[in-house]
Amino acid sequence: MSSLVYLNGRFVPEEQATLPVFDRATLFSDAVYEVTCVVDGQLFDYHAHMQRLKRSLTKLDMKYDVDTEALLAVHQRLIAENAIHNGMVYLQLSRGTADRSFRYSNEPEPNLFCFTQKLGVDPKQTLQRRLKLISTEEGRWSLLDIKTTQLLYASLVKTRVMKQGADDALFLNNGYVTETTAANFFIVSEAGTLVTCPLNGTLLPGITRQRILDLAYADGFSVEERLFTIDEVYKAREAFVTSAVNFATPVAEIDGKCLIPEGNSPVTSRLHKLYLDEVPKS
Ligand SMILES: Cc1ncc(COP(=O)(O)O)c(C=O)c1O
Repeated sequence: MSSLVYLNGRFVPEEQATLPVFDRATLFSDAVYEVTCVVDGQLFDYHAHMQRLKRSLTKLDMKYDVDTEALLAVHQRLIAENAIHNGMVYLQLSRGTADRSFRYSNEPEPNLFCFTQKLGVDPKQTLQRRLKLISTEEGRWSLLDIKTTQLLYASLVKTRVMKQGADDALFLNNGYVTETTAANFFIVSEAGTLVTCPLNGTLLPGITRQRILDLAYADGFSVEERLFTIDEVYKAREAFVTSAVNFATPVAEIDGKCLIPEGNSPVTSRLHKLYLDEVPKS
């Protein structure tokens, strides 16, 4: 059945949701996006995602006045009309439609659309997953801290590692572990400290990453935001990824090396539970 899509102020069936060839998202990946998770019909951390959307727009010098409350109503109508119980709402905003030129202007109206997707896996059950990762040299572009639709390298790498039997790639930037193709990455070190890469421009400032860090600090965990190598990961007690639709999902194997052999990940479990309890819902 066709789903409902929001496009430039109108709700239309997906077949009618079309954009011009000259949309700058098509020609230059000149677009930003957000993905907000829906659990039991409720949006998780919607306002934090909208804050990051505003940050992405500012970083790319895109002029658009984000009306958070109006867009919340759009999200909620799509969730209701498309009967999304567990899933997500995707929002994309491009610099608009213009003749192809490397020199942009902010005169065109931005193109904004939202659609929904159902999730096969109930996000509350992500704790039961056991991800396999393969470490991979960084090859993406340099503006990794902005959530843009410039995702081709990540897509190529994800497809390659999945053919090798893994779930995702873990990027190494100048020898340091950063993130996966679509999630942030944490370890519990040999010493029992929760460790994740700092926001140094080599990774996306994940909304879930920040929630998990805040919850970990508040819960009294020892936390370090610092650089770490793949050798430290191999020796870790636990590893997990975070993203809007993954919450905190355990990693069981990296480069064929087994982590959590006994299938036990107490820190990940604790943070997953705290996240589900505490994340703001709309
Ligand atoms: C490259 C990358 N890193 C991290 C994340 C996790 O971010 P968030 O927790 O905001 O979903 C994403 C999400 O799509 C991503 O694409």
